[in-house]
Amino acid sequence: MLHVENLTKRYNGTLAVDRLNMDIPEGEIYGFVGANGAGKTTTMRIIAGLLAPSSGKVFIGGIDVFKEPLEVKKHIGYMPDFFGVYDDLKVYEYMDFYAGLYGISKQKSRGLTDSLLELVRLTNKKDAYVDTLSRGMKQRLCLARSLIHDPEFLILDEPASGLDPRARVEMTEILKELRSLGKTILISSHILHELSELCTSIGIIDAGKLIASGSVQDILEKMSHANQVKIRVSSKEEEAVKILMEIPGIGSISSVVGVIDVNMEGGDEACVRVLKTLVERDIPVVSFQPVESSLETVFMQLTKGEEQ
Ligand SMILES: Nc1ncnc2c1ncn2[C@@H]1O[C@H](COP(=O)(O)OP(=O)(O)O)[C@@H](O)[C@H]1O
Ligand SMILES: [Mg+2]
Repeated sequence: MLHVENLTKRYNGTLAVDRLNMDIPEGEIYGFVGANGAGKTTTMRIIAGLLAPSSGKVFIGGIDVFKEPLEVKKHIGYMPDFFGVYDDLKVYEYMDFYAGLYGISKQKSRGLTDSLLELVRLTNKKDAYVDTLSRGMKQRLCLARSLIHDPEFLILDEPASGLDPRARVEMTEILKELRSLGKTILISSHILHELSELCTSIGIIDAGKLIASGSVQDILEKMSHANQVKIRVSSKEEEAVKILMEIPGIGSISSVVGVIDVNMEGGDEACVRVLKTLVERDIPVVSFQPVESSLETVFMQLTKGEEQ
């Protein structure tokens, strides 16, 4: 559905997107993850045809975004990362307005608005003024608006940002519904776990570069040779730390009241070796627990050393 080739964007001196390549097959929910300033919004605006790149190509459904901008707009729904001010506009008027922009007849737009407001759980706010809605509601309205022309491909820029936990859950539920409707979705976030449940694939962007891309599983596997272990000892904590420091392949060690957190390389075998060493040296190990690498850990590992 989406094919991005060597996309580069420079703003005067800043290299915001750096030779980025990305492919999203139909039906995928692709999570685009990166810290603030990593280049997510810039990339998404270019893909949506709203910003010209410095170089590179973007195809959506085989259509060249820069050569056939009008044609491509029929197929994409874009939800920006900000919400404008809409004085004196009621929710249904707002939807009608956008329907009009897409040449949808008044008659048709009413039914469409009703079903979209239902999808985003705003039916009871139909007659409310847009400016009176909560942030979560505005974001859901913005999503409904991006769906007005029934696009196959959605570009959602941090749809859950700034929402409280409850509103986040609501947004995720709605996005799952869109997934089940067969939409292909590119969704960004600076919070990994928000996407891991929803997405089929993840791409990690750092300083304009896509530093990892693949299924959630793939990305975790890439990191599986790096382990994090929590070791609890009943005494001899300092001695245990000293012993750990001598073992090759051990990264960072931190200890707080009998619990030692260790990062190490080498997968399961390394774990076995470390536990064996501690026991042989008479360290009273109460528990030895490998911590499953969360996407956060993966992200920290992958971006390590690339921040300079
Ligand atoms: N209009 C602009 N003019 C100059 N620099 C910009 C502009 N928009 C973004 N940038 C810079 O480009 C980089 C990427 O920004 P952005 O795409 O907004 O990242 P993200 O969405 O991941 O937070 C940042 O360094 C940002 O300061
Ligand atoms: Mg952004």
